[in-house]
Amino acid sequence: MRYLSGIQPSGTVHLGNYFGAMRRHIERQEGNECFYFIADYHALTTIRDPQEMRKNVVDVALDYLAIGLDPKKAVVFRQSDVPQVVELAWVLSTIAPMGLLSRCHSFKDKVAKNVEASLGLFAYPVLMAADILIYDSERVPVGKDQKQHLEVTRDIAQTFNRIYGETFVVPEEEIEEATAVVPGVDGQKMSKSYSNTIEMFASEKQLKKSTGRIVTDSKAVEEQKDPAGNTVYELYSLMANPAERAEMERRFREGGYGYGDAKAALRKKILEYFGPYRETRELLAKDPDKVFDILKDGAKRARLVAEKTLRRVYERVGLR
Ligand code: ADP
Ligand code: TRP
Repeated sequence: MRYLSGIQPSGTVHLGNYFGAMRRHIERQEGNECFYFIADYHALTTIRDPQEMRKNVVDVALDYLAIGLDPKKAVVFRQSDVPQVVELAWVLSTIAPMGLLSRCHSFKDKVAKNVEASLGLFAYPVLMAADILIYDSERVPVGKDQKQHLEVTRDIAQTFNRIYGETFVVPEEEIEEATAVVPGVDGQKMSKSYSNTIEMFASEKQLKKSTGRIVTDSKAVEEQKDPAGNTVYELYSLMANPAERAEMERRFREGGYGYGDAKAALRKKILEYFGPYRETRELLAKDPDKVFDILKDGAKRARLVAEKTLRRVYERVGLR
């Protein structure tokens, strides 16, 4: 099965990205053909500082490699190293229906959060469709927020195939129910743009701050508590084994266990869970050339596939 996914270099990677998407990207490396890229063209819709862009790209690459992305198993690259995708995006934009794009939540949400309503932001799903279709991707592992973009992709692929004959593989999203929406410290979906994140590689001090902000009800220590719907418990459950999870659940229900205690357990768990990855990341960060080589090699492999698809498309539409 051919898998593909992208992650924007728009800030520090958080628990939502990891459990909602990245962890599965790693798991799928075994026995599949995987293409994973850093979506820097997409990030241009929100980042206007070239220094920040360069730094974020390296950071996401380090995060990915640290958690186990293996360039021998997966094709890892930077989106803009395969500019053919922008050529395809233009062709697709000529058949992408305005009505469908106008209904996309992500555009409306971002504009509501004061992101500039640029043409690029509006056309974001068309570029994403090009990302997916240019590599003949069959499965796209993402969080639930991306489901609508996959619907747009399928619509565009089917329309193209209908007009010009079978050209594109029609892809499916792969969303894991249990981690489809990881909650942030305010209980809403964890997202960089909501400033409610807990970062994967945060220090103990940073974690004290972020976990301290997790919103709970105001029950006193001695009171009995309901773990269901409690953000501390939900986040802890992502990392705990079944026995640990049952133990926290029991303490919640019994009473005599405060939210402060639960937050301390959560912090400890995050540090323990990501500790080995953190060490790998620190080692890798000392050798940025190695990271650039990996991205360059990935781009070379990705370009071979992209060029082939683009030739097929140009042939079909009569540009060759
Ligand atoms: P953000 O919302 O923080 O900007 P991205 O849009 O860069 O995150 O998301 C990268 C990947 O992580 C996507 O596949 C997205 O679906 C997934 N993801 C992001 N936040 C969450 C979350 N809170 N729960 C589950 N998956 C998420
Ligand atoms: N839009 C995705 C996000 O914000 C990133 C992305 C860009 C992507 N192109 C993609 C994800 C192609 C999957 C497939 O998370």
